[in-house]
Amino acid sequence: MRMVDLIEKKREGGELSDDEIRFIINGYMNGDIVDYEMSAMLMAIYFRGMSERETLTLTLAMRDSGDQVDLSAIPGIKVDKHSTGGVGDKTSMIIGPAVAACGIPVAKMSGRGLGFTGGTVDKFESIPGYRTEFTMDEFISLVREHGISMIGQSGDLAPADKSLYALRDVTGTVPSIPLIASSIMSKKLASGADKIVLDVTVGNGAFMQELDKAKELAGRMISIGNGAGKKTVALLTDMNEPLGYAIGNNLEVKEVIAALQGDGPDDLMEISCALSGMMLSLAKDISYDEGKALAEEKIKDGSAFSKFKELVKAQGGDISFIEDPSKFKTAPVSSELTADKAGYISLIDTYALGIASGRLGAGREKKDDIIDMSAGIILHKKIGDHVVPGESIATLYGGSPGRPDKPLQVIEDNLQHVLHDIKSAFTIADERPDKNPLIHEIMVTIHG
Ligand code: URA
Repeated sequence: MRMVDLIEKKREGGELSDDEIRFIINGYMNGDIVDYEMSAMLMAIYFRGMSERETLTLTLAMRDSGDQVDLSAIPGIKVDKHSTGGVGDKTSMIIGPAVAACGIPVAKMSGRGLGFTGGTVDKFESIPGYRTEFTMDEFISLVREHGISMIGQSGDLAPADKSLYALRDVTGTVPSIPLIASSIMSKKLASGADKIVLDVTVGNGAFMQELDKAKELAGRMISIGNGAGKKTVALLTDMNEPLGYAIGNNLEVKEVIAALQGDGPDDLMEISCALSGMMLSLAKDISYDEGKALAEEKIKDGSAFSKFKELVKAQGGDISFIEDPSKFKTAPVSSELTADKAGYISLIDTYALGIASGRLGAGREKKDDIIDMSAGIILHKKIGDHVVPGESIATLYGGSPGRPDKPLQVIEDNLQHVLHDIKSAFTIADERPDKNPLIHEIMVTIHG
């Protein structure tokens, strides 16, 4: 087989065979296929797409390129949840304890912040002492003992995706549905769960801005999951404003603590309970509504909060911060973003807020940057809320971006720049806008 022939075949709209796809992935991983050949293939896929069979084979080849987690030592059905990303999305920290409180094992590996989105691992690490790195044996022991463990990615899962993603990033080939679907699902399939719930976000703070594109992506991921023998369902959720009010690591943890004590924002609770309900439905073979009601009950009666504390303690976190969130570090500087006219918040540039939070110190510009756990944004107003001139829409908390020891004046200047840049992120209109539904659709099968 020659790579150039396969590139030409895909360029002309042909369908690659399973053997050809495995030849490409294996060849790229062992160095026989080089970056310029792979780049040409990615571009051909970008323009010509892939059939469902090709996408499944590509995903399985990427899954098979590295370690695969074996969760069989944990009794029961393991259901994983994956979000395609958003701003202020702290649902995993609520869902994990809520599902575990229902007796379903939660063995969750999460990622760090990426671009405009935060990461669950970074959020957990804002709890002093909380460890996110464990060996696979320790991870499995934690789940067996506590019914839950939430850690960073352990092992070398889907290294082919890692290499391909880096290449896609610099060749303009990221936004391709088969490439995104196979990238996400190769890692999910390698993480060992029996069933998968996907939260496919849609809106101006999501990878997919349009509902039909999000549906297409969700459909392709469902088809891959089911094709690989793992029952997969997807919820299409709205990301046209941040979830909840907090963006930034310890700010979000504080919101999670309140939520688990029954005082969470409506949107955050609705999405968290919906996703938990779907996980419980798959794990317990009950209806989605029954699963959702069960999750709501475990949050209401405090057992999800107890499970959260148990998790934090088991992974070395200082529980006194959970019991008294005022102990969390506060940012050295803060400033208000105020309304310049009266009206209703009609539009929020969610992506811009995600970027702004990162610039304040909550995210990384370079891989090795140190996050400031206290940095971020607290919203006071969301879409549909009324404001009067001078009223605060949001408070910005300025931390030390990149490294922990910046002079106060640098932090203050940075805060003022970010404040200036996000003034236009909020649109104020005379009329109260209609709210988007929070859950656009639940997809249990592939939409054509
Ligand atoms: N997230 C991934 O893991 N891969 C993609 O291609 C896009 C988002």
